[in-house]
Amino acid sequence: MPDISTNLAGIKSPNPFWLASAPPTNSGYQVMKAFDAGWGGAVWKTLGVPVVNVSSRYGGLNHKDNRMVGFNNIELISDRPLKDNLREIEEVKKYFPNHAVIASLMVETKEQWHQIVKDVENAGSDGIELNFGCPHGMCERGMGSAVGQEPKVLQTIVEWVKEVSTIPVIVKLTPNISDITEPAQAAHAGGGDAISLINTIQSVIGVDIDQYVPYPIVDGQSTNGGYCGPAVKPIALNMLKNCAQHPGVDIPISGIGGIENWRDAVEFFLLGATNVQVCTAVMHYGFGIIREMIPGLERYMTEKGFETLDDFKGKALGNVKTWEHLNLEYKVKAEIKEDKCIGCQLCYIACEDGAHQAIRLSEDKENRVPEIIDENCVGCNLCSIVCPSEGCIAMVRQDDGQKVTTWNERMNSDDVPTTFNDERAGGIGHFVPEPTDALGMG
Ligand SMILES: Cc1cc2nc3c(=O)[nH]c(=O)nc-3n(C[C@H](O)[C@H](O)[C@H](O)COP(=O)(O)O)c2cc1C
Repeated sequence: MPDISTNLAGIKSPNPFWLASAPPTNSGYQVMKAFDAGWGGAVWKTLGVPVVNVSSRYGGLNHKDNRMVGFNNIELISDRPLKDNLREIEEVKKYFPNHAVIASLMVETKEQWHQIVKDVENAGSDGIELNFGCPHGMCERGMGSAVGQEPKVLQTIVEWVKEVSTIPVIVKLTPNISDITEPAQAAHAGGGDAISLINTIQSVIGVDIDQYVPYPIVDGQSTNGGYCGPAVKPIALNMLKNCAQHPGVDIPISGIGGIENWRDAVEFFLLGATNVQVCTAVMHYGFGIIREMIPGLERYMTEKGFETLDDFKGKALGNVKTWEHLNLEYKVKAEIKEDKCIGCQLCYIACEDGAHQAIRLSEDKENRVPEIIDENCVGCNLCSIVCPSEGCIAMVRQDDGQKVTTWNERMNSDDVPTTFNDERAGGIGHFVPEPTDALGMG
């Protein structure tokens, strides 16, 4: 059996699956139930000066098969008394000494930070997570994402926390920023032991078109919320990759955002995460999803010959380059497998109207299988993405794999067109207007 235990900056847990700070970690009852089910760690629902929450507070974006693909909330931090939470953290640690319990914190002043750090340490927390990510409600009061968007302020608060903390400090980042590596570096510079990302993305999930109010509705009004769930995974993976590749962010990363199953988690590990945290999937399907996540991960590791998570952490990072390093010689083309085609013609419509007119319908009305027009197919993948029949459209390599030419190499070669009017640009030269006074360019 592979070893799936983890150590994130000194916080040990029996497996890499933690609950993210959110409603599933709101109480000792829930965290103990989750640990019983198999979760390796839990980041407690953010503690601070207790708030009052509104009703209603969630909104969902459902796919047409009614599966929730995106989730939005306008909830604040914990609305339970701090002393109740501290007592329950202590209880959980008594029953589950080998599981990771991390206290998520959000307060305002240096004195408050010092006090609450001592409180959660005394309760037995294994680590602290600083919530610099919440993009609604708390940021208007100068906390949450308001801190995550100001690297200097973020660094100062991390330094305050590190002045008193004797347990590892994770800095949770907001994705509501143009360059995630800036707060990530500030977290490192302030002495943070790890970062976690992403918190939710500021959003309006939809609008009730009869009441003229966005969701979720609170007495006829609404506010912007935080978006999460499967829809945000691509954004989280990109930010994770940016941090993991950055030499100035040399601390472990806890990956969060849209993780629903072991495959999602493996993708985060391959892009450099040491462990992962889950919120929406548990709010949707319950703690029981862990019962497939653990064996799924173990099976994957056994098949690949990985003994520990470190054996494949960051393994995909070397294969993510900037665009100009990609091989322009690599060519794929679509091939439709007749026996799998259900004749829906979605590939034809998508390619005809939305891409490169590289699919034709057969003249023979009895034969509904579309045909690829080889000379028009640029290998964009669109047909295989929209095809509802699994394995029906394959993208097949055409070049012999011998030659590699990158954009930079092409730009330095004699073959490259120098202007849009150059015939070698593929005959688009006539679309480029000559500068005229009418366009204000003359
Ligand atoms: C209803 C709700 C409440 C949340 N509350 C907190 C919170 O108190 N503290 C925090 O750091 N993140 C909070 N989050 C953000 C999650 O911890 C997590 O970062 C985010 O949802 C992305 O993960 P997911 O796609 O698995 O849900 C909350 C998320 C939701 C949906």
